[in-house]
Amino acid sequence: MGVFATTDDPESTGHEQVVFCQDKQTGLKAIIGIYSTALGPALGGTRFYPYDSEEAALADVLDLSRGMAYKNALAGLDLGGGKAVIWGDPEQIKSEALLRAYGRFVESLSGRYYTACDVGTYVADMDVIARETRYVTGRSVEHGGAGDSSILTAWGVFQGMRAAAEHVWGVPTLHGKRVGVAGLGKVGRYLVGHLLDDGAEVVATDVNPRALDWARTTHPQVTLLDDVTALVAADIDVYAPCALGGALDDDTVPALRAKVVAGAANNQLAHPGVEKLLADRGILYAPDYVVNAGGVIQVADEIEGFDFDRAKLRATRIYDTTREILRLADSDGVPPAVAADRLAERRMAEIGRLRTIHLR
Ligand SMILES: NC(=O)c1ccc[n+]([C@@H]2O[C@H](COP(=O)([O-])OP(=O)(O)OC[C@H]3O[C@@H](n4cnc5c(N)ncnc54)[C@H](O)[C@@H]3O)[C@@H](O)[C@H]2O)c1
Repeated sequence: MGVFATTDDPESTGHEQVVFCQDKQTGLKAIIGIYSTALGPALGGTRFYPYDSEEAALADVLDLSRGMAYKNALAGLDLGGGKAVIWGDPEQIKSEALLRAYGRFVESLSGRYYTACDVGTYVADMDVIARETRYVTGRSVEHGGAGDSSILTAWGVFQGMRAAAEHVWGVPTLHGKRVGVAGLGKVGRYLVGHLLDDGAEVVATDVNPRALDWARTTHPQVTLLDDVTALVAADIDVYAPCALGGALDDDTVPALRAKVVAGAANNQLAHPGVEKLLADRGILYAPDYVVNAGGVIQVADEIEGFDFDRAKLRATRIYDTTREILRLADSDGVPPAVAADRLAERRMAEIGRLRTIHLR
């Protein structure tokens, strides 16, 4: 794999810029990947993770930053795609000095890259990073930020699920449908609320006993199952993976009884080709990066000065985008994941091209 694109190198990743940052005193080792700024400054979170090697950290940042370009394009944002990784165990090395050192590297890119939370980084960390750079979002409400992004993530997933339901059953509602939610964390809990309000029957599972207690106390009508294997095999109409990535693989897809998959988890397809397995079984998969974009819509809104109603309106449009993708998938005869990529690439090309019109 090479970052630099050459005409005869199909393996090149095609990224615009990859920046290695080091501060020996604090132990900071970070890589910032900018895949595309065709639509605007690159936006994507900072993952703080103890990778096995520098190669693994680089591969992850290249992959994640490319994914953000597609996600931001389909979310209708005027933002490109980027991501950063900090290589190390956050439990061991995260400190105010390390985060601020990182913030200075972000600042040095002069706004080509905006950072936010991801695995291993939290709203409080963004507040610290913000002491060194303007180019950070996902801060706490007390520091002028938007706070918890799971509220709009769940709202967006619900909108995408409505569009998928309409495509399969003709009406944009989950009323009367059995929806299986795997993972009752921050997003899963809000999603359960929207589903029950819409008249759906909810079946759920979680590995954390506290999450199950929450469901028993707050929504006693929710049926709780032992584990994800039981949920996948259950008589459900919709499967909503809201826990970890890789939820759809060679074992789960053949066992799945649902007709629709729409959930919050990132990277639900365990490997390329799973989208075809789903399509072959007649299961409609609403691409994860389309339906879970509510969170990035929220942090993007914060860059303008956060307005919850405006951000919610934008997240509601995930319904329209999902509809368009499902229609395109039908008309092009491709799985929705492929149609989503095509639509994102079209927007990056069409809107990105406008910058060639010289202004001054
Ligand atoms: N929070 C956001 O704004 C946001 C935005 C986009 C995507 N996502 C993705 O959505 C997913 C959920 O995010 P979250 O913020 O709710 O995370 P979370 O950590 O709050 O919740 C995840 C839940 O899944 C449960 N879980 C973990 N492994 C499980 C398993 N094997 N079986 C059943 N339950 C299991 C955990 O106990 C936890 O309750 C993640 O994949 C995340 O990357 C979140």
